[in-house]
Amino acid sequence: MDIKIEQLIKSVQEAGKIILTASGREDSITAKEGKKNFVTKYDVAVQKYLYDELSKIIPEAEFVGEEGDFDKESTALRFVVDPIDGTTNFMQDYHCSCISVALCEGDQPILGIIYNPYSDEIFSAEKGKGAYLNGKQIKVSDRTLADGLALFGTSPYHPENTDETFALLRRVFDYSRDIRRSGSAAYDICMVACGRCEVFFEKELQPWDYAAGTIILREAGGVAETYDGQTPCLSHGSDVVFSNAKAISEFKNLL
Ligand code: IPD
Ligand code: CA
Ligand code: CA
Repeated sequence: MDIKIEQLIKSVQEAGKIILTASGREDSITAKEGKKNFVTKYDVAVQKYLYDELSKIIPEAEFVGEEGDFDKESTALRFVVDPIDGTTNFMQDYHCSCISVALCEGDQPILGIIYNPYSDEIFSAEKGKGAYLNGKQIKVSDRTLADGLALFGTSPYHPENTDETFALLRRVFDYSRDIRRSGSAAYDICMVACGRCEVFFEKELQPWDYAAGTIILREAGGVAETYDGQTPCLSHGSDVVFSNAKAISEFKNLL
């Protein structure tokens, strides 16, 4: 298949304008399940825009997005999309949210695009062709975790994970230079992919959060694994760690 990545990138950048020009976010918030999970009319609008545009570019691909019927069982060629990763940041105008688009085949991503419209950073990768930030090739760092930075997600929609997450975080904090929490898992994975940080981890992350990041990180020379050493799949959420090649074993020793 001849993949038109440049066309896909253009559409994702256009969709970013919906995020940058959004007004009246506070009036468009609807609660999903639980106390911390919300959706705005902009999550829905970005997903609809991407559905329309991406389907024109690769009509044979199915489309599954977080805001809709996410068919986790499908193994057909499909787009796996998180229209706004970092919705809470978006609601509060915190300027750290991304659009995450993966093209997947079987149980694995073969192309990924993650766009942070606030910083105008576009991360992209195609299987076997390397990973790029705004067109320049990126690589993971070769720092150890002991001499590096760790990123984490709090599993905000799964309060049953909080104690375990924060106990692990304490160990990682003691072991590493420091920790960071951005509020966008897709952006965190890109930070590891471009060598600014060494490890990102989160319990019960969902396929739309990590599908694009997985291929970007792998093409940058990094490792995507579940806590128990499996390959993260697209049919269910997982406890995941995204790391450079050195820091993964140090992280596993802290589990
Ligand atoms: C969330 C963000 C957050 C992570 C959550 C995700 P959303 O995505 O990536 O950083 O901690 O687990 O669900 O809901 O803003 O698309
Ligand atoms: Ca997300
Ligand atoms: Ca989202």
